[in-house]
Amino acid sequence: MQHILEATSLSPERLARVFTRAASMGNNGYRKMLRGKRVALLFYQASTRTRLSFEAAIKALGGDTLTMSEMKQFSSNAKGESDEDTIRVISSYCHCIVLRHSRAGAAERLAPYSRVPLINAGDGNNEHPTQAYLDLFTIWQAMQAGRLPTNGLNLLFFGDNENSRTVRSLAKLLVSHGPTLGVRVKSMAFCGPNGFAVPPEDVSAAIGHSCELSLPAKPLYAGTDVVYITRPQREYHNGKKLVMMPFTEKMANALPEHAIIMHPLPRTDELPVEVDANPRAWYFTQSENGMLVRMALLWHLLQQ
Ligand code: NCD
Repeated sequence: MQHILEATSLSPERLARVFTRAASMGNNGYRKMLRGKRVALLFYQASTRTRLSFEAAIKALGGDTLTMSEMKQFSSNAKGESDEDTIRVISSYCHCIVLRHSRAGAAERLAPYSRVPLINAGDGNNEHPTQAYLDLFTIWQAMQAGRLPTNGLNLLFFGDNENSRTVRSLAKLLVSHGPTLGVRVKSMAFCGPNGFAVPPEDVSAAIGHSCELSLPAKPLYAGTDVVYITRPQREYHNGKKLVMMPFTEKMANALPEHAIIMHPLPRTDELPVEVDANPRAWYFTQSENGMLVRMALLWHLLQQ
């Protein structure tokens, strides 16, 4: 049994198999893969894409879902039940648990209480492994299509890099799993509002050894292949004020033509809608990939 608690929970070789499968998921042959399997979706924190793409993925494969999207308010958590008890009980009703929690480390803490695979769908400002899989899949796909260079990418992380679990998971995954997938990173630059630009120490440490890490005051858009934008993660700021400059159409046009602009969504003011028409805007393709990658991952985890 395999839990997915952080992006590196799957080995690079297994992730490569998930990607190959995700790329062929349009094929109807997969429709019954999860027949007779129930997946519980337990969300203690807001979600649109993650929950619904998981649900769509499960249904597309013929599986069933047990969904609680308001765990904080409507589960026995509101009566004082511990999360440990909840997971222990629910894992006896289903074949897999997808968990989103507001506390960093919740997935790792609760996994020992689950008798079925537990997938971390975001735990506080810690990790969001399945988002990192679909993000890396999107980059891999752009590379397979000949859009992105194969001899080393320059990435720019633009936004709340300190608190974004998607940045943490993707940055680490790129370094540890990218090479096996043929995705080589030359440099990662982190840019964002004062006090929020710098990624946490564990991320810098993971990156520092294998590629150039920089914190440019003014990013060099002309040399960037992938821009990864994130919204201010206000839920983790404890009232600290953050003023973030938006990634404008002008900045988008300063990128090379082949560059892609990514964002895990939801966006706020940091990514104006004017950028949507720019041929470099890939964030909706990226979110579409969410369902395919989650289908492939579930198939991989539950096929036995
Ligand atoms: C992200 C998250 O929840 O961390 N959203 C998502 O799952 N696509 C990004 C965010 O909320 O900023």
